[in-house]
Amino acid sequence: MIDKLPLGSDTALMVLTGAGISAESGIPTFRGDGGMWNGLPAELLASPEGFERDPGLVWRFYCERRANVKRSMPNAGHRALAKLQIEMGSRLLLATQNVDGLHFRAGSVKVVELHGNIFLTKCSNPNCFRKAVTDFEVYPKVPMCSECRNPLRPGVVWFGENLDKFMIHRIQDFIKDGKRRPFVFLAVGTQGAVEPASMMVRFAKAAGATTVLVNLEKADNEDAFDVVYHGKAGDILPAIL
Ligand code: OAD
Repeated sequence: MIDKLPLGSDTALMVLTGAGISAESGIPTFRGDGGMWNGLPAELLASPEGFERDPGLVWRFYCERRANVKRSMPNAGHRALAKLQIEMGSRLLLATQNVDGLHFRAGSVKVVELHGNIFLTKCSNPNCFRKAVTDFEVYPKVPMCSECRNPLRPGVVWFGENLDKFMIHRIQDFIKDGKRRPFVFLAVGTQGAVEPASMMVRFAKAAGATTVLVNLEKADNEDAFDVVYHGKAGDILPAIL
């Protein structure tokens, strides 16, 4: 039995998406069935330590994903959220852990990209003055910085790195505001294994939110949700929104 989300005319909705929402667009998840790239854990491919150990391996992973994202199209899950944003305006906050930009391509105009965007490249040397640039290139070998000769790296947020403070404040303010009106928190396609995103449901719950999860398999933080739908985002989101 699938119920529509309880979205009245003054309800605020925070949506947090993860890799699972893009799975039906053909982009592999990090964990769960079909996750893991060549059997390697995400921490090895998405961390400063992993990059230092083997920048070639990390770039192969990201270039494969870049090529894959370029080929892929937003699916019914992305589109349902984009349509809802038009209806709800600023009462909806959409945050994603995904770096694929598919929410934007589906028509969502405001998206908090917690982990950055895969089509950004920056210098791995924090002291280099070269800025992050938009970059759709799929490199055959590790690209080097033209300014300081250190390896360039994808402009995404890796394990052990800080999220953008402005984004975090925006989410904190939205959740705090949820205390003053009906509030729903919806997580989609996320295993709930990576902080701080995995903790957001608990903060939302503390602010009085009704918490809803849409995920193919059991998530690690499932106990924090009032309502759980196990299934594909592309089937369930159009039904509940
Ligand atoms: P995960 O790969 O950890 O989890 C994806 C979840 O989506 C799994 O629980 C799947 O069961 C579920 N899933 C798969 N297909 C689905 C579908 N069609 N509909 C609904 N759910 C589906 O992805 P995240 O939780 O997003 O970070 O991972 C969080 C972070 O870990 C990533 O952003 C990335 C990774 O390391 C960094 O790179 C820093």
